[in-house]
Amino acid sequence: MNATATSPHVLMPGAYPEWDMAPMQAAYTLHRLWEAPDRQAFIAEHAPHIRAVATRGELGANAELIAALPKLELIACYGVGTDGIDLAACRARGIRVSNTPDVLNGDVADLAVGLTLALQRRIPAGDRFVRSGAWANGGMPLTRRVFGQRIGIAGFGRIGSTIARRLSGFDVELGYFSRTPKQDSQHRHFASLPAMADWCDVLIVILPGGEATRGIVNAEVLQALGPKGWLVNVSRGTTVDEGALLQALEARAIAGAALDVFLNEPRIDPRFAALDNVVLHPHHGSGTEQTRRAMGELVRRNLEAHFAGQPLVTPVA
Ligand code: 8YV
Repeated sequence: MNATATSPHVLMPGAYPEWDMAPMQAAYTLHRLWEAPDRQAFIAEHAPHIRAVATRGELGANAELIAALPKLELIACYGVGTDGIDLAACRARGIRVSNTPDVLNGDVADLAVGLTLALQRRIPAGDRFVRSGAWANGGMPLTRRVFGQRIGIAGFGRIGSTIARRLSGFDVELGYFSRTPKQDSQHRHFASLPAMADWCDVLIVILPGGEATRGIVNAEVLQALGPKGWLVNVSRGTTVDEGALLQALEARAIAGAALDVFLNEPRIDPRFAALDNVVLHPHHGSGTEQTRRAMGELVRRNLEAHFAGQPLVTPVA
């Protein structure tokens, strides 16, 4: 089945997996921006009809795109983070926004734990050690113990608290940084990020992106983490002052970092690749087939609800 002449027009800045494209195409008149040789001309041509944008977290929808779409009613985001969407521009025009919360909590939390283990136990280095044949010349250098440490989680929303739940099985002491203490958490609350960085051995960052958190993991926080401290970032590249981080890693002013997110993805700063105290990962916190299927379904349910005149399933406030 394909969209009909009366199907709502939806602009897609980037593709979804093929299992999402088929039902999207059946229900809507899709405009595939990523295939357009001239983006501006393409938008200008279709703008009078476009009622929704179905985007992805990393593609967002900026003020320019929103301004170019006079009939826009909804931006549906495949991803929980909406930092790439100009929410102020949406508010000003009464444009609704939806995202895909909760369905990805477990995967992002699993990756945060996995990266912590990979970093301190040097699992990727161990893999290289075996593959290269270096093992034949002697054992791998010793690594760091994960259990028994203090782990500080910066950001204690849905994903942060899931990370804490996962880590409670690891015999670690947990703390978290958030504006207000959570009544239902017995873990240690910090209102100051440098204070938590000073306290913990591993700092896991899962704060939302955007202006409010830009560069919040700065030189002061890294200094507080210190030469025996480790950083794990599964939030957004923008939450870390990347220049300060690279400097700290190169100078061994912190022990190491495991990073799923960077500035300028996917063309990240090449200085990272030269470091042996990092584990690098390609922004794949939610990247399992099960979760990506659930995210696509949630995007479609929001589109359906919107065009049926119903409340969104997962609206962004
Ligand atoms: C997704 C993300 O990885 O859910 C999020 O906030 O991190 C996203 O960037 C992305 O939207 C998948 O395309």
